[in-house]
Amino acid sequence: MSQTMNDFNGKVAIVTGSSSGLGEAIVCMLSKCGCRVTIHGRSEENVNRVAEKCRTLSPKKFTPNKCIGDLRNDQVVETIIKTTIEMFGQIDFLINNAGGHYLANLSDSNEIRNSYDYIFGLNVRSTVYLTSLAVPYLEKSNGVIIIISSIGSFSSFNNEKTIIYEMSKAALDHMAHGMALSYGRRGIRINTINPGPFKTAIYRNYSDQDEYEKELKSYEQLSPLGRYGDPEELANLVAFLISPNASYITGTNVVIDGGSSIPRFI
Ligand SMILES: NC(=O)c1ccc[n+]([C@@H]2O[C@H](COP(=O)([O-])OP(=O)(O)OC[C@H]3O[C@@H](n4cnc5c(N)ncnc54)[C@H](OP(=O)(O)O)[C@@H]3O)[C@@H](O)[C@H]2O)c1
Repeated sequence: MSQTMNDFNGKVAIVTGSSSGLGEAIVCMLSKCGCRVTIHGRSEENVNRVAEKCRTLSPKKFTPNKCIGDLRNDQVVETIIKTTIEMFGQIDFLINNAGGHYLANLSDSNEIRNSYDYIFGLNVRSTVYLTSLAVPYLEKSNGVIIIISSIGSFSSFNNEKTIIYEMSKAALDHMAHGMALSYGRRGIRINTINPGPFKTAIYRNYSDQDEYEKELKSYEQLSPLGRYGDPEELANLVAFLISPNASYITGTNVVIDGGSSIPRFI
């Protein structure tokens, strides 16, 4: 049976890193579909901007919960759960979207440790901790978890500086496999979404300006569709995967990359 936009009416969704980029598109989509949402990011200005957007999009004009701070800080993670429960009393969907880079050459023995600590602290540790705190509420609601991974988890960017990032995303893919096995009978589904290139602020500090322009062009050409993904296309996939239409989908890594990761000879 197909679901309508209003099927999420009153459900509660947490979307980390929803102050820009893919997370912003996801939280806007879920608000449009009737969810009550927790918006999170480091930039207070952007969190406020997105919160106003979500309130306007929400059919019942729900006011979002707002949470600001660096997810590498455990207190920020705890505050996301605490304020969501205080404001809404339940959690139905946890969208672990926040993530980032810290570029370093593997041969640079000092910087590589900083890169490892930053990337694994943000992409993996905070996801594990937030998920762990959310599980008791998700068990009550038969909830759904989505983790935004990357095609880099299984397909190398062929760049020494992104190896740690790719490793972190591979860890998240496997977290979804293990959690799906352990939590399926407790009513929780979990999947990753593995995006290819979407033009967001994540590429801002990717490299120096010249290299950045070149890389943006080459990523665009990776897809046989000849373009970047539109964040709304990814938000549509989130809405599908958390809906009852995807009730038999768990423990899988869903690629959305316009064909960018198709193995090719030349
Ligand atoms: N764009 C792509 O092509 C692509 C491809 C594959 C995977 N991904 C993944 O998609 C997810 C979203 O990325 P995006 O492309 O939308 O990038 P983005 O526009 O840079 O958004 C990243 C979000 O995460 C938040 N964030 C970053 N570092 C944080 C930290 N230390 N603590 C708390 N929040 C932090 C940012 O908050 P503030 O801006 O407020 O600081 C922002 O809301 C990431 O997990 C990324 O790895 C993206």
